[in-house]
Amino acid sequence: MDRYLVFGHPVRHSKSPFIHTLFARQTQQELEYGLAEPAVDEFAQALRTFFDQGGKGCNVTVPFKEQAFTLVDCLSPRAKRAGAVNTIKLTDDGVLLGDNTDGAGLVADLKSHGVTLADSRILLLGAGGAARGALAPLLTELPSELVIANRTHTKAQQLAAEFHDLGPVTAQTYEQLAGPFDLVINSTSASLQGELPPLTPALIHTDIAIYDMMYGASDTAFISWAKQHGARQTMDGLGMLVEQAAEAFTVWRGIRPGTKQVLRELKRNLGVI
Ligand code: ATR
Repeated sequence: MDRYLVFGHPVRHSKSPFIHTLFARQTQQELEYGLAEPAVDEFAQALRTFFDQGGKGCNVTVPFKEQAFTLVDCLSPRAKRAGAVNTIKLTDDGVLLGDNTDGAGLVADLKSHGVTLADSRILLLGAGGAARGALAPLLTELPSELVIANRTHTKAQQLAAEFHDLGPVTAQTYEQLAGPFDLVINSTSASLQGELPPLTPALIHTDIAIYDMMYGASDTAFISWAKQHGARQTMDGLGMLVEQAAEAFTVWRGIRPGTKQVLRELKRNLGVI
């Protein structure tokens, strides 16, 4: 049977096996999908061993995405832009192809929530790996403006300069931000520590769409905060997780699974509904 897995550390709580098993069942594909948690300095070896032993493809998550970028034989254009790889496919020619489906997953999830990206003013919080992966797919949707704000302003400036050729992207400090924005995307890891990015509540209004790439069984700190200040449309990263997985599955199997039912089952599994 064709074998796939996700590499991460820690990875025990990954939902990817659950999601891909449902995709496989839905599309009647014969495959198995597991977990691998190599020591941080043993990822390269573990990756080689997996493909030497017949593995067909894998996902890569924290903290290995940047390292995976350096280990594959060739890169998709979107992985090259993201500077990170979250999906690897062994092609029929024996080549390890590195791809990145995170940004496409974000855009697909935003669209499935009815969020309009064209001509919109987008504020992206954070300038780490997650922000980098999102930039090209977001700019492809032709927003009127995309502003990056980050605690360490120089990192936002660097990212804006790097993606400037793709669209109207600028960097501003949190203090400089002036609304109204149509959409705020939180790509920071602040919610992981129960913290908030230093955003003024004055930017939150009833028609704004709020997206947090993080997720949990209950609202993230950022989503709770935005709701408190009047945001009516809030979304967490669970949909992005399922959509990036669907995109990876499509890369591997050439068939696109449906995501709605799988997202519902995942929510049930997490105790969200
Ligand atoms: P990821 O790959 O998830 O993007 P990362 O590359 O470590 O992770 O980036 C984390 C991002 O969250 C960074 O933009 C970081 O800001 P700095 O560049 O200033 O470190 C941001 N971040 C983390 N904790 C934060 C907090 N409490 N408030 C604001 N931003 C925070």
